[in-house]
Amino acid sequence: MKSFLLLLAFLLSHEAGADEIVGGEESKPHSHPYMALLKIQMRDGTYHCGGFLIRRDFVMTAAHCAGKFITVILGAHNITNKEDTWQILNVKRQFPHLQYNSKTFINDIMLLKLEEKAKLTMAVGTLPLPSGSNSVSPGRVCRATGWGRTGVTAPGSDTLREVKLRLMDPNNCKEYPSFDERFQLCVGNPKTIKSAYKGDSGGPLICSGVAQGIVSYGRYNATPPAVFTQIAYYRPWINRILASN
Ligand SMILES: *[C@@H]1O[C@H](CO)[C@@H](O)[C@H](O)[C@H]1NC(C)=O
Repeated sequence: MKSFLLLLAFLLSHEAGADEIVGGEESKPHSHPYMALLKIQMRDGTYHCGGFLIRRDFVMTAAHCAGKFITVILGAHNITNKEDTWQILNVKRQFPHLQYNSKTFINDIMLLKLEEKAKLTMAVGTLPLPSGSNSVSPGRVCRATGWGRTGVTAPGSDTLREVKLRLMDPNNCKEYPSFDERFQLCVGNPKTIKSAYKGDSGGPLICSGVAQGIVSYGRYNATPPAVFTQIAYYRPWINRILASN
């Protein structure tokens, strides 16, 4: 079950429009300065997840990325060797949503309090969250970013990659029995599959510069759509944790 979640990969939609980007592509170095690579120690090894900096001392990710111990790397582009821009920070406390259900994947959201505040630089910055009322509508084209690394031995990308993904009508996720449009987003057009992209669980879905979703789960065979946690729904929960920590 863990590998199903961590190995989330999805195919991206390729529209006919002249200026649509085709396929996942390498991001311009440090063009997503909020991106965090999480190294998660679990009983059976080290796993990677994506995450994103939302305050100098808080990273957001998926609840299924919780582990015994987590280290966060900020300011990374190519993760094979330490770059001058890196900030490596330990997680002081993990706040997985208390109602996270590992069978239905409902409430797949977690906040990580860092031991120290990140320094804001050209390569490290925060990503704004939506206000509680501001939710995104089907048809919007947003962007997901990640290294696609899913475990110590799993193949992934050395460098940060990004892909454009279309927000789908909730009906497209009906086949996922526990999909609930109140808490989740249905992402990726199943009809326009052209090329593959592997994303990290816990990474952001960014719509007009705002984090609207968190990569949660998809199908074993990685065909779209995939399910993302809908951040706007969790604003009260997020605010409560940020205010008291
Ligand atoms: C990442 O860095 C390594 C080591 O410096 C290099 O061999 C590799 O080609 C780089 N990857 C990309 C995609 O640039």
